[in-house]
Amino acid sequence: MMPNWVVIAKVDDCPPGSSLERVAGDRIVALFNVDGEFHALDGVCPHQGGPLGKGSLVGCIVTCPWHGWQFDVRSGKHQTSQSLVHPGFAVKVEDGTVLIDLGDN
Ligand code: FES
Repeated sequence: MMPNWVVIAKVDDCPPGSSLERVAGDRIVALFNVDGEFHALDGVCPHQGGPLGKGSLVGCIVTCPWHGWQFDVRSGKHQTSQSLVHPGFAVKVEDGTVLIDLGDN
C-alpha cells in the first residue's frame, strides 16, 4: 500500500493534552496530543459512531463523549475489551504541521 500523507492540522492547533476532529478525504480523523506526541485514530467510535476527536483525553486515554467507551490513543485498544482494537493512522510532524497516512482511503 502506498503511503498517502495528508496534512490534517498545525501542531499549534492541538496542544499537549488535547484532541480534535478533522475530515481527511472521506474519513473522520481524531487527533490526540499526548505530552507532545501525536496519535491519530479513526474518529468514529465503534460503539454507535460517537465523535472520538471530541472526547476528553487524560494521559493516553480518550473517553468517547457519547457513552464513555475508553481507548488508548497510542494503540487503539479498548480499555476493557482488549481484543477490540480501534484502527488508527500513522502520524508524522513536518514543519509545524501534523500529517497522517490515509493509505488507499
Ligand atoms: S458511541 Fe462511543 S461510547 Fe457509544
